[in-house]
Amino acid sequence: MTKLLVVATGNPGKLRELQAYLANSGWELTLKPEELEIAETGETFAANAGLKASQVAQATGQWAIADDSGLQVDALNGVPGVYSARYGSNDSERIARLLRELGNAVNRQAQFVCAVAIARPDGTIALESEGICRGEILHAPRGEGGFGYDPIFYVPEKQLTFAEMSRELKGSISHRGQALKALIPQLAALNI
Ligand code: IMP
Repeated sequence: MTKLLVVATGNPGKLRELQAYLANSGWELTLKPEELEIAETGETFAANAGLKASQVAQATGQWAIADDSGLQVDALNGVPGVYSARYGSNDSERIARLLRELGNAVNRQAQFVCAVAIARPDGTIALESEGICRGEILHAPRGEGGFGYDPIFYVPEKQLTFAEMSRELKGSISHRGQALKALIPQLAALNI
């Protein structure tokens, strides 16, 4: 029997990405109902992922999965963090604001973090995982791919920004890729 997992997002791109990671997991993924608004009021990525998964599970009566992610810049004490999506009104404004606030700081270390949570139909959390990818903030954007802060996030080991990587390469090292990879064996072990 196929098991249904509702994805706590209205974004079909995020659904496709999760489907690719969880392709052989035995779960069928579906988007949350469009009219279902979900609050993101937590102060950590894990709290937000849990909140989103719980709300969607309870509203639909199904198992639900949610992720929450963002960029933490060391010299800015972890900003923009959980506010990454709300740091400006579009990607280029968000990047411009971050570069302005970081200025010519010598310490440009940063990390992307992704928390994932899976909730049971009653809203309780069954599984959680977190992935981190360390890198450095460039002085100017580089590369055309990806989204969000990708063009200014440089990974020294690969000598590329996230925006210069293929989807496969980014997925193999990214915060989201690592969080989901850690979740797959746990999901398989769930005895339902
Ligand atoms: P979420 O959809 O609430 O998890 O918001 C995540 C926000 O963090 C996005 O809107 C981006 O601004 C940023 N972000 C998260 N992951 C990435 C990534 O892989 N590349 C670039 N930006 C990201």
